[in-house]
Order: sequence, then C-alpha cells, then structure tokens
Amino acid sequence: MPRTATHDTNVVTVTFTDDSQARFHAIWLRDNALDPDTRAPGNGQRLITIGDIPANISVSAADVLNGDLVITFQPEGKTVTFPADWLADHSYDSAQAAEFGRIATGITTWERGIDAPSGDWNEVHASPVAKRNWLAAVAELGFAKLTGGPTEPESLLKVADLFGYVRETNYGPYFEVRTEVNPTNLAYTGLGLQAHTDNPYRDPVPTLQILYCLENSAEGGDSIVVDGFRAAEKLRDQNPEGFALLAGFPARFEYKGSDGVCLRSRRPMIELSPDGELIGIRFNNRSSAPFVDIPFEKMEAYYAAYRQLGGIIDDPAMGVSFKLEPGESFIVDNTRVLHARLGYSGAGSRWLQGCYADKDGLLSTLAAMEITQPEAAE
Ligand code: FE2
Repeated sequence: MPRTATHDTNVVTVTFTDDSQARFHAIWLRDNALDPDTRAPGNGQRLITIGDIPANISVSAADVLNGDLVITFQPEGKTVTFPADWLADHSYDSAQAAEFGRIATGITTWERGIDAPSGDWNEVHASPVAKRNWLAAVAELGFAKLTGGPTEPESLLKVADLFGYVRETNYGPYFEVRTEVNPTNLAYTGLGLQAHTDNPYRDPVPTLQILYCLENSAEGGDSIVVDGFRAAEKLRDQNPEGFALLAGFPARFEYKGSDGVCLRSRRPMIELSPDGELIGIRFNNRSSAPFVDIPFEKMEAYYAAYRQLGGIIDDPAMGVSFKLEPGESFIVDNTRVLHARLGYSGAGSRWLQGCYADKDGLLSTLAAMEITQPEAAE
C-alpha cells in the first residue's frame, strides 16, 4: 500500500510500504479516476472521452491518507482518491516483457507425455469447481476432454452452453464429421488429416472448436492434438530468422468448396501481438492459398521455415493422442492447438459432430467464476 507520494506537475511518484516505487503520469491518473463522474458506479464503464480531459492536465497535490492516494488535478480543481491496492495492482512503471515470440503468463506449453486434461459431464454440470477447473485447463493448456456425456445427436451444443455460444458458420450451427460421398470437405472422408487449425480462411477464425463423438467403432480414427505454441517455441529456438518470417509476413488461406462460399484471409501462420507476444497459430495445408505477400528474395527461406514448422508439428513426440468413445468430446483453442486424426477404415462406424464457439466467452465465464468463488481456485 502507498506510504508516501511526491509529485511534479506531470508525474506522481508513490513509495509503497515495501519501499518499492512506481511513477504515474497525470494524464494516466486522470483518465483512470474512479469517481462517479468519471466511471459509472453501476457498470464501471468510463463516462468521459479522452477529449474531455484537458490537454494541460496537471497535478497540484498528491498525498497519502490512510493508505489511499489523494490527487488534485488542475485546471479542473478536481480531487480524486485511488484506493491503496488499486495503484499497486495497476502499476505500469516496471520493465515490460519484450522477448520476441514469448508465451503469455498463464499459458503452459506441452508435448506428448502430459495427461490430457479432462472433465466429467455430470460433474462440470453440477459442480462450479469442476466446471472451473475444466475451463481453466482450456485457458492454460488450450484443450480439454469431456467424458461421460450423452450419446444423442446435438449434445455438443450443450457443451458450448456451459460457457458461451455456438458460432454459426456456412457449415451450419454444427457439422457432421463422417464419411460422405462427394464430400464438400476432406474432413468428411476416412482420410487421415495432418494436424491443423480449423478455418484459417476466416477472419477472425473460430477461436474454439468442439468435437463430440457419437459413434467410433471403426478401426483407427484416433484424435491427436498438438500444441502450436510449443511448436512455435521450438521453431523460434531452432531458427529465429525463420520464425520471424512466418510471423512477419501474411500467408493466404481460402475455401470455396461449396456453392456461394468463397472465404479468404491474409494472415500470418504465427501471429504476434505488436509487443511480441505469441497470440495465434494458423496452420492448414488443405486451405492454404498461394502465398503472394512474401518478398521474392525471402520466399525460399519462408518455405524452409514453413517446412521446418510442419516437421515439428508432425513429430510424433509432439502429439497427445486419444480415441474418443461415444459420449466423449474435446474442446480445442483453435488459435493455438492443432488437431489431427488418423485415417480410419470402412469397417464399423465413426460419427462425430463438430461446432465452433469463441474463447472470449469461455474466458469471460472463467474470470467471472474466479471473482465470485475465489477460494475454489486453490
Ligand atoms: Fe479440423
């Protein structure tokens, strides 16, 4: 908590009781004032625009009272209190993580050998703690199984209901994954599929996919998931220039397998935030379009990096595999975790249903549960 504060017109320097210090700019403090004229008391939304703050905003007084920081701004003559913990929680005066291609806090990358995280259908429906643990696994690891569910068609929609909403596409609210005659997509055949993310030709891509098993007596057809972030980390370590090429230039993706549909995107295979954090993977040989955004002199190196990333993804040491039983499903973070399946034979049957949903809804449900049941997070 703050112990003392000093200031000049533009910057307030707070010394906390542990002797650490943090500086805050006048404009930042004014923008983040918590008074009811700046933030709506009910929904917490900001009531002022950036233009409502005087360009010559300054601090005329900064004092610590009972651990809270009390600031007076000029020319408004406005006095605002920042609660003791709020400032420490929102300090930005520290070395910002800047490693190129770094993994965000809270994400753990993995490869073969981990136990697939799993929830039980009845438990996640009945127990908020079980549900939160299952959602937290998706947030941290990018995938989780759900076992013990019903074997009725459309049960996958109830999986999405647990945390959010189905994202409907041109494939419908959900799609059937089983062998078809004249398939509109190679997913609807018995062919094995290389590990991929779904629908890279959409912008934005569906950020979650649910695959739900209704029948699986065919030989083969095992599901395999691969952590695309771990694959990207390996590429970054083995070939930093190649990593930078895949992150630095857009690939192209396209799907026009159905009448009236022509989806196209121009996005990188490895996506970084502007400050270098790894935020997404797009990898799908079936829907890659000609790459035309890479400079001529870099194209061969780009392809070499693409091949190298593909080799890492296909390495059996990377994949976690399992065979879904009827009533079992898994959810993947489609911006991170690739999924594959082994080919399967005509004997027996394999019937899965798949749908898309969005990660923001899942993360919102998870965060809201963590606010309302903080002890259960232990
Ligand atoms: Fe897929």
